[in-house]
Amino acid sequence: MCGIVCYVGKKQAKPILLDGLKQLEYRGYDSAGVAVQQGSDIDCYRSVGKIAELERKLNGLEINGTTGIAHTRWATHGEPTEENAHPHSDQDENVFVIHNGIIENYHMLKKKLEKQGIKFRSETDTEVLAQLIGLNYEGSLNEAVRKTMSQVEGTFGVAVIHKDVPDEIVIARRGSPLIIGVSEDGHFAASDVSAMVRYTNKVVHLEENELATLTADGFSMSTAQAKPIERSMETVEWRIEDAELDGFPHFMLKEIYEQPETIKNALRGRLEPGEGVPKLGGIMPVWDTLKECRHLVIVACGTSYYAGCVGRYLFEKLTEIDVEVELASEFRYRKLNFPPNTFILALSQSGETADTLAALREAKRKGASLLGVVNVVGSSISRETEAGVYNHAGPEIGVASTKIFTSQLAILTLMALLLGRHQNLSLTEGVEAIRALQALPDQIKTVLSQANHIEAVAEQYYKCGNWLFLGRKYNYPIALEGALKLKEISYIHAEGYPAGEMKHGPIALINPDMPTVAVVPRDDMYEKMISNIQEIKSRRGPVIAIATQGDEKIREIADEVIEIPETLQYLNPILSVVPCQLLAYYCASFLGRDIDKPRNLAKSVTVE
Ligand code: M6R
Repeated sequence: MCGIVCYVGKKQAKPILLDGLKQLEYRGYDSAGVAVQQGSDIDCYRSVGKIAELERKLNGLEINGTTGIAHTRWATHGEPTEENAHPHSDQDENVFVIHNGIIENYHMLKKKLEKQGIKFRSETDTEVLAQLIGLNYEGSLNEAVRKTMSQVEGTFGVAVIHKDVPDEIVIARRGSPLIIGVSEDGHFAASDVSAMVRYTNKVVHLEENELATLTADGFSMSTAQAKPIERSMETVEWRIEDAELDGFPHFMLKEIYEQPETIKNALRGRLEPGEGVPKLGGIMPVWDTLKECRHLVIVACGTSYYAGCVGRYLFEKLTEIDVEVELASEFRYRKLNFPPNTFILALSQSGETADTLAALREAKRKGASLLGVVNVVGSSISRETEAGVYNHAGPEIGVASTKIFTSQLAILTLMALLLGRHQNLSLTEGVEAIRALQALPDQIKTVLSQANHIEAVAEQYYKCGNWLFLGRKYNYPIALEGALKLKEISYIHAEGYPAGEMKHGPIALINPDMPTVAVVPRDDMYEKMISNIQEIKSRRGPVIAIATQGDEKIREIADEVIEIPETLQYLNPILSVVPCQLLAYYCASFLGRDIDKPRNLAKSVTVE
């Protein structure tokens, strides 16, 4: 979604800001802009489309200045036009503002300002912020932003410069993340560390309702009530190389191939094979209450939600805990009663998904304890949960989530195993689980070695406009995830179904032009899945089976077979999802789609 990058320091701001914007491209956007300040001159340029468009516009122009703010916009209020792109200014063009989030009372504020004779140039909620800051400015930009914060409702991460205050950027946060970057050559602010990690890995997080003033030599932070804040610096682990393609045509493919490594990272230092009990330091702060937990609610969105759906089966298999899985965006509409000692577990790659954050806050209000499994260190969800586990999977750049899904499944297995061993799970079962987890990285490599075959299958079917994905039990969420992967990057319509539901409706769709991907490993659902596949074949529907290595029976029934190595039944999803990811990738590739930045989608969904 929208992205912010700012710089004030000793170097020229323009190249730093453009580079930062390119690092933010993966979040999804439809227009971009930059404002660079030199003394009391501010040059502002905006354009619709890719950053390359903005770069073309700036090409050959003398834009000097060591202070600047830049933005990628994902349209919420007003179409993606140049007028609606950020930065926005007040009517006298003194103040320039970039903004992530939504100002909920902007309509009322706009009407009020228009009555005072203020002329608006865009349809955005952000312009209201710029106009208000301009009106509130009486010599201190920090004070003007603080006063404006008290007038607006909604969410924001904002960065502001003013003609009268050269070499100073004021930033403020409510509900939309902002991070300060510290380097010898100056200071950065960004919505995402990837925008500044080329220049520094020393960061300070701005918390809710806080402001900061950045200059070349330092920065100061304060609360909305003007109380000064001291906060220690953190070091981020991500490197700029992690955000580069490394010879792969797309980040999505690179990230699919990273899975043997990201599974190792999820397990590293966390396995105790002899005891059959994993070690999860991140949840130890709440262990005394967690070990007595009998009710767990997993909340998440999109792919993370599907990981949660597998998680429910994992916890039910390995523990005595009752588990519910909730779409975070629907959570607040449920009348959930939390028995004592209920834990809420949020799953999120970005750690910034607005719906997941809102669900956590609602659950906290109702007295539940909060846990997280998050990839982005220091993200809002990691900060608002009491304890949790990091994926340590490096940045996921492709909008379609892949490596984080399998990493989430590995971590959920560890969590369930830890709790299960504390309850009734035997040493033998614990040891068996850990051995099976350790084998997964090489087994994923075996699946990846069939990429050419999967590409050939995709080539045969990518022109089909409708696909069905079927699975049962552990692999029902894989059917959902397989369908989501296909639709989001190839724009092919796909539906994921529990195979048992076929006869209750979807079987009416089956015809020779509608392929079904059947996730059918050899497990206790196998025979039932085979019956479902036979039903599809009787109606001349093509079947692509994802099956266990060496399964000869399935070869006689299905049109195509993609093999996965044998593992414990509940670990099958970590392997069976990989062919689904590759099928989606190759279909999208044959269709010439913008795989890493599919239309209308954003990497980090920071609006509800
Ligand atoms: O960052 P999160 O894991 O919280 O994101 C949740 C969803 O927005 C995300 O999984 C989305 O569905 C992806 N596009 C799926 O590939």
